[in-house]
Amino acid sequence: MTTLFDDYELTTNLRLANRIVLPPLTRNRATDDFVPTASMAEYYRQRATAGLLVTEGVAIAPAAVAYPRVPGLWTDAQEEAWASVVEAVHGEGAVIFAQLWHVGRVSHSLTQPGGTKPVAPSPIPVVGEQIMTSDGLVPFETPRELETDEIPSVVDQYVDAARRARRAGFDGVEIHAANGYLIDQFLNDESNRRTDRYGGDIEGRLRFLLDVVAAVSDAIGAERVGVRLSPSGTWMQTNDSDKRALYGAAVTALDEHGIAYLHLVEPTIAGAQSVTAAPDAIPSAYFRELFTGTLIVAGDHTFETGTQVVRKGTADLVAFGRAFISNPDLPARFESGLPLAEADRATFYTPGDRGYIDYPPFGEGR
Ligand SMILES: Cc1cc2nc3c(=O)[nH]c(=O)nc-3n(C[C@H](O)[C@H](O)[C@H](O)COP(=O)(O)O)c2cc1C
Repeated sequence: MTTLFDDYELTTNLRLANRIVLPPLTRNRATDDFVPTASMAEYYRQRATAGLLVTEGVAIAPAAVAYPRVPGLWTDAQEEAWASVVEAVHGEGAVIFAQLWHVGRVSHSLTQPGGTKPVAPSPIPVVGEQIMTSDGLVPFETPRELETDEIPSVVDQYVDAARRARRAGFDGVEIHAANGYLIDQFLNDESNRRTDRYGGDIEGRLRFLLDVVAAVSDAIGAERVGVRLSPSGTWMQTNDSDKRALYGAAVTALDEHGIAYLHLVEPTIAGAQSVTAAPDAIPSAYFRELFTGTLIVAGDHTFETGTQVVRKGTADLVAFGRAFISNPDLPARFESGLPLAEADRATFYTPGDRGYIDYPPFGEGR
């Protein structure tokens, strides 16, 4: 019977020590110039008993940034700093992928280089929500629609970041196509009203994602590329009139690309929070039928539900996000049946080491 502690061959030459995954968790601990720090290396090292670690969202370009102190991967200094993080994780024997991130309209001209408007598939703002900027919380603005002929240059930014990731020693990259950010904005028909080849029917709305996957795969090999999707998510107003058809087509197409893995956010998650699943939510098990490669699920899993998932085979690997924030030794706690520490939401996104690298392993004082 398969358990969370069984090893797993992710792809050629990439063997995971177990089936427990650290999912991407934005923690805003990089420098003001978006450079990873020594504390970040320590944070990931502490959690490197997971078989697979996926970094927090890593901005692929200055225009890809929404929030303060997120790490980037478009300069030599960032690449060098990431190499130290990777070295710390590899020293513990774990595998680590970098999550490549462009936020699209979930940014603001106060954050954008040159004070320009953020870009998106269509000039449709996120309504009724606010974004933290240098001026405090402000409403989202109407983004600038990307020109058809500038889209390839955004694809190139993913490729450049993927190349840098490999140079820094990362085992691969995860394309962030979930949670309402740029690629998700292209996928869903509420946020994509384009009439060119990147919009319209499902084939058109999938084009940007598949262009990114194809270009990054060409650069570093498809077996080093994962993709994250949130098929039932509507966070940041990425609704679609037929999510089952859209994400069914997306997963089928990704399967043909032979990627390293597909990482699905469960229906009860909206970004970083638990919610009631929508009535049209699609169970992750539906995608198991469509995807023949490695499947990871993330969202509200406990040791018990994660164990069920791998036992039944509805996914191959299970990610634990908030539990890993406050329990750096999560796999050991699972294995020994030890109690879990509660995560402190107040320090999720604050600068400094408090609530970041000061959660002790079980039995050691803080
Ligand atoms: C503090 C925090 C930051 C997050 N940052 C990211 C991120 O950068 N990229 C991403 O795809 N998901 C992000 N997520 C979502 C998690 O990867 C995961 O899907 C979610 O926490 C649900 O899993 P859990 O119930 O095990 O926590 C974040 C979640 C939290 C709590």
